[in-house]
Amino acid sequence: MVNLSSQRRCAVRPVNAEPKRNDSMVPQAAATTVVPEMSEKVEAEDYERLAKELEKASPLEIIDKALEKFGNDIAIAFSGAEDVALIEYAKLTGRPFRVFSLDTGRLNPETYQFFDQVEKHYGVHIEYMFPDAVEVQALVRSKGLFSFYEDGHQECCRVRKVRPLRRALKGLRAWITGQRKDQSPGTRSEIPVVQVDPVFEGIDGGIGSLVKWNPVANVDGKDIWNFLRAMNVPVNSLHSQGYVSIGCEPCTRPVLPGQHEREGRWWWEDAKAKECGLHKGNLKQNGAAHLNGNGNGAAYANGTATESDIFNSQNLVTLSRPGIENLAKLEDRREPWIVVLYAPWCRFCQAMEASYVELADKLAASGVKVGKFRADGDQKEYAKKELQLGSFPTILFFPKHSSKPIKYPSEKRDVDSLMAFVNALR
Ligand code: ADX
Ligand code: SF4
Repeated sequence: MVNLSSQRRCAVRPVNAEPKRNDSMVPQAAATTVVPEMSEKVEAEDYERLAKELEKASPLEIIDKALEKFGNDIAIAFSGAEDVALIEYAKLTGRPFRVFSLDTGRLNPETYQFFDQVEKHYGVHIEYMFPDAVEVQALVRSKGLFSFYEDGHQECCRVRKVRPLRRALKGLRAWITGQRKDQSPGTRSEIPVVQVDPVFEGIDGGIGSLVKWNPVANVDGKDIWNFLRAMNVPVNSLHSQGYVSIGCEPCTRPVLPGQHEREGRWWWEDAKAKECGLHKGNLKQNGAAHLNGNGNGAAYANGTATESDIFNSQNLVTLSRPGIENLAKLEDRREPWIVVLYAPWCRFCQAMEASYVELADKLAASGVKVGKFRADGDQKEYAKKELQLGSFPTILFFPKHSSKPIKYPSEKRDVDSLMAFVNALR
């Protein structure tokens, strides 16, 4: 993956002046420094154009461009996982660079050891950001140390990660993340290599004052690992214990072979919520798709949805409210059922439409019934209370001899995964 010729093409400028420092970071690894092009205005269209131009560029070229443009006003957001690749690329550009990390207070010991190793290996001081002590105290005193298992991770993430991130970004004009499209098909499939940050503000204040670089957006996880191995980069020892995506200790677990890396994060929650707020612009984009229509016949007028339905197939049964109430009541069914609770405007439902219809075709003569129940609008409260609806889509299996439906626990919604679920339970 490393394009060494592009490394040679990097235009490293000679030292002209020491860039101004915002705070403590000392870029000891750097041999040269730059005059950042700070007069440039952050224009969304410019960055859309730049993103297109750089779509096929190597991560090294992209990081070089980012560091060249923003000098000391940009920093790498380092999570302590395989995004150490960003630091390696930054080093390869030969330019000075800054690194910050959000120390939530709940990271694994291995991650803290890894931070120390990275600081020594690269000769950098990671700029740690800590949560506000009073806020953490209030949260933990009122709700305990593990409230996220009870009422979701958003509140704890907001205190321990998002607010410290907001503070860090207020001192910058740009940041570099290790987000990749393949990390989360649900939320990250459209991230550009560079964008005006849709959510956070930079030093000049206001939305539009910060640029977000995602240099490895188009790189596969396996290529990141090939790169790390080839360059002999230190890695978090948790990776050798089955961890892929690494966050806080109580909210991260190893994954099994074949499981998606995201299944190791906040596994007790529904797929849709699996952005902790650091990259909530990804979710906002999804929301925007919802509001603007989505190429699937959806149109909104005065807030009223007039979209066409999805999951249309002769092998799929459309359940009405009495229909699903009846199904949920039966102790003994003639046949088992798999039912999707959906909303036609939901992008995640649309994304699984083809595989669910294919599942219905495959199961047509199998004795397993495939159904759908539209659970938005007036049906939502009922579905939440009685049918375990968390977010759309929720997939339920109603076994033949039990009234209690089993909720599909994964965000993998390809036909093989759904089939494996059905076959395991039928
Ligand atoms: S998260 O939002 O789900 O926690 P993820 O672990 O996928 O994010 O990491 C994506 C990118 O977000 C990382 O490559 C890094 O740039 C940034 N990031 C995540 N966690 C942290 C952290 N604790 N400190 C700094 N940056 C982080
Ligand atoms: Fe809290 Fe878990 Fe979020 Fe870490 S990942 S901030 S422990 S909820």
